[in-house]
Amino acid sequence: MKSLLRTIAPACLVEWYRNYRRAKDRERNRGRSSEAVFTDIYAKNAWGGAKGEFFSGRGSVDEDLVAPYISLVSDTVTRDGLAGSTFVDLGCGDFRIGHRLLPFCSRYTGVDVVRPLVDRNQEQYGCDTVRFVALDIVADALPVGEVCLVRQVFQHLSNQDICSVLLKLQKFKLVIITEHYPTGTEAPVPNLDKVRGGDTRVLDNSGVYLSVPPFNLPEQSLSLALELPVTYAKGSGVLRTFLYRPLSA
Ligand SMILES: C[S@@+](CC[C@H](N)C(=O)[O-])C[C@H]1O[C@@H](n2cnc3c(N)ncnc32)[C@H](O)[C@@H]1O
Repeated sequence: MKSLLRTIAPACLVEWYRNYRRAKDRERNRGRSSEAVFTDIYAKNAWGGAKGEFFSGRGSVDEDLVAPYISLVSDTVTRDGLAGSTFVDLGCGDFRIGHRLLPFCSRYTGVDVVRPLVDRNQEQYGCDTVRFVALDIVADALPVGEVCLVRQVFQHLSNQDICSVLLKLQKFKLVIITEHYPTGTEAPVPNLDKVRGGDTRVLDNSGVYLSVPPFNLPEQSLSLALELPVTYAKGSGVLRTFLYRPLSA
């Protein structure tokens, strides 16, 4: 029904309705905990998937986006001498990405704020070397490891949330950060603040630009390693993956 309406309704009406829904969601999420916000998103299948299934979004299954990302992680950890080390995956979601990283690490810790998802992951995939912990990466201390992955997580957080997490990334040797960016004709507005939630800054022609205020990661510790066109989302955009090496700052 929804897709039928989308086909027959004028584009401007669809656009108006989308913006109305986003504004309502932001209003509702203001002041809610990360746990409440993201648990709700999975419970309502707001990022897709069959009813009752945990689904972290198209960005985690689209092979055009996933395969090059996995190759990049493999090549980078091999080159940096970090193959076979401990990986910490912040905002691990449904583990569709994480399980493909297992060949490159000796231990894997998946972290997410959604308890039923973490429990499901631990039950289905937990073993001596793979574990899942329910933590709020904004408020809690992070698990120990050498390589940290933060894939399509910051794009859903407020600027203050991101600042809190960035402070805690200093202890890792390598942090691999993936984010969604707009590529329209107008110059993007860096780091427009948002309420934490399922949407991203892209529809507001913004994204998370880590080397500029309020984040200010030193340019020399951050490098763009991969850029892929995103075709599943509204509007044009790219998924960029950065290598952040805190100690090289
Ligand atoms: C779009 S999903 C990405 C999942 C996975 N990284 C991937 O690429 O498939 C974002 C994930 O971040 C998690 N997340 C958001 N805020 C968090 C927080 N404060 N602490 C821990 N996890 C969080 C969400 O629950 C969700 O599973």
